[in-house]
Amino acid sequence: MNDIYKILVRPLFFRMNAENAHNVACSLLSWIEKFPVLRKAIESLINAPTDPITAFGVKFPNSIGLAAGFDKDGQFPGVCSALGFGHMEVGTVTPKPQPGNPTPRLFRLVNEESIINRMGFNNHGAEAMCRRIARTYPKGQRNSPLGVNIGKAKVTPLSETLDDYLFSLETLAEIADYFTINISSPNTPGLREFHKKEFLEPLLRGINQKNISLAKSNDRTEVPCLLKVSPDESFSSLEKILEIATDNNVKGLVATNTSVGREKGIVHPEEGGLSGKAIEDKSLQVIKFLHRQSNGKMPIIGVGGISDVNSAARKMDAGAILVQLYTGFVYEGPFLPKNILKGIRKRDSWTT
Ligand SMILES: Cc1cc2nc3c(=O)[nH]c(=O)nc-3n(C[C@H](O)[C@H](O)[C@H](O)COP(=O)(O)O)c2cc1C
Repeated sequence: MNDIYKILVRPLFFRMNAENAHNVACSLLSWIEKFPVLRKAIESLINAPTDPITAFGVKFPNSIGLAAGFDKDGQFPGVCSALGFGHMEVGTVTPKPQPGNPTPRLFRLVNEESIINRMGFNNHGAEAMCRRIARTYPKGQRNSPLGVNIGKAKVTPLSETLDDYLFSLETLAEIADYFTINISSPNTPGLREFHKKEFLEPLLRGINQKNISLAKSNDRTEVPCLLKVSPDESFSSLEKILEIATDNNVKGLVATNTSVGREKGIVHPEEGGLSGKAIEDKSLQVIKFLHRQSNGKMPIIGVGGISDVNSAARKMDAGAILVQLYTGFVYEGPFLPKNILKGIRKRDSWTT
């Protein structure tokens, strides 16, 4: 089945420019999303093994998730669940719709099985996402949890960044199983400043206070908030981030986002964040460090360059409780989550 994708489907997609191909794939997935019978058929065809796991208080049917950025507006979480993903992280969403950066802004590096993007959080805004998800993938009718990745709008001054996160937190709390606070996309000017203590501390404190007060006033528990970090930070910076996150009730770290570095000698004229195989090792080192530094106490979602069972297993062996993928999905196709799950199950049966 994997071969069908690689021999027949991928060449068709790769003939189009990268963003057009992505849009065609998203339109198809959004169309399928509308028909429960088609979703069910896909679920039966894929028949991904389940391997339940609980992380930061949320129950997941398996450990493989779809990383943020693929379904920016939450248009097809049900189909992704049917494909075998044990969670989907939608977004990054900003309070109001924004167009993102001018095109072209998405580039394949086929030989390296990598991507460079500078999309810049193109999305329809938090309110539209909330309406759509409440209608199409409501809580209580989900097989796989939904994470919502929230970010800062391009036009928002750095000094008002907290307001953006608070708006999205409040708007989307009813549909999110967890939030990811994204401070690490390289394509929103100033966003990565929030890795610094003087920016990060007030941001996380404000988000935590709001999360607590929303939970109290709605008579429910807080929605777990995770923090997504960059692979380009030094270990000493990550150490401080871990401390600040722990002190401010952050329930987990998503490591990592794309890199502004050009790993493995990649020379490419386009600016933006590098993802895929080229960053696998870089993100792995971040996960190892965070896991060791937190004595295994901070749950980590490992993401960056997962393209097969071995790369997923390396992230788990490094301490990730869950993993996510994006670029591997583009290169390997829709059977990747299932193939990884099968491979991990086989591996676990050898080691037990
Ligand atoms: C085209 C593209 C768009 C992305 N958009 C987002 C985004 O909106 N928010 C985010 O947190 N990460 C975004 N990412 C980063 C991914 O979620 C992931 O962290 C990164 O690509 C590393 O994983 P991978 O190597 O499996 O792709 C994007 C990645 C790509 C390739």
